[in-house]
Amino acid sequence: MKIGIFDSGVGGLLIAKSIRKTLPQYDYVYLGDTKRVPYGNRSHETILEFTREAVKYLFEKENCGLIIIACNTASAQALHELQIEYKNKKILGVIIPVAEESINFKKIGILATSATVSSNTFPREIKEVNKNAKVFQNPAPMLVPLAESGENKNALPFIKEYLKPLLAKKIDALILGCTHYPIYKKEIKKILPKNIKIISQDEIIPKKLKNYLQRHTEVENKLSKNGKAKILVTDKTKNIEFLAHKWFGKESLSLIEI
Ligand code: DGL
Repeated sequence: MKIGIFDSGVGGLLIAKSIRKTLPQYDYVYLGDTKRVPYGNRSHETILEFTREAVKYLFEKENCGLIIIACNTASAQALHELQIEYKNKKILGVIIPVAEESINFKKIGILATSATVSSNTFPREIKEVNKNAKVFQNPAPMLVPLAESGENKNALPFIKEYLKPLLAKKIDALILGCTHYPIYKKEIKKILPKNIKIISQDEIIPKKLKNYLQRHTEVENKLSKNGKAKILVTDKTKNIEFLAHKWFGKESLSLIEI
């Protein structure tokens, strides 16, 4: 059985790449809903419906033994309900692992999509493990469409604007609370004072997954280990084609209907 990794678009591909680097032995299938991205400005009902379709596809058509929702928006808005619907299967999100990494910080800033911010999932999960932390969120809606179209340079003025209110709060850590944002890590580092720690899911999720699989041998035993990876998308955009070829090789990409 494969490990399924889902995102609304290209963001989770970076997470998939770093997971595969840490755990190269497993077989992976990535699903990017590039036809319907962005999710971050949609209603709870729509995000749940789209995520449910992707999860169904990965379990039923791709025989996944484990699915990682590598999308904060879907983790915030749909994970809990899908974990109840699929109570005999394993679906993991990307928000709790990041909240756990925030325990040593006092003032935590978060950039995320509007749907993730309005769900309040990050502040809630951070308070579970770090109850005295002060948490500040700011939605950064323009960064996802820019990342989807590969417009990295044009993101800089938006990043500056989105960071302003968080920097005014004198944060000591910044969570990149959308899997598209690590694509801009270089740009963000240029603006952010050196003393502010960047908490980025591409650096956290692989080690958390490794640890999860060590603890859950009943899941690990079912996973096939041929070191293969394929990328499925609902629309073959230029940018995902470019990134899939660059990170996963020429033959990795296929178009599907979900
Ligand atoms: N990459 C996703 C996230 O982590 C979703 C972006 C979007 O579709 O708006 O939130």
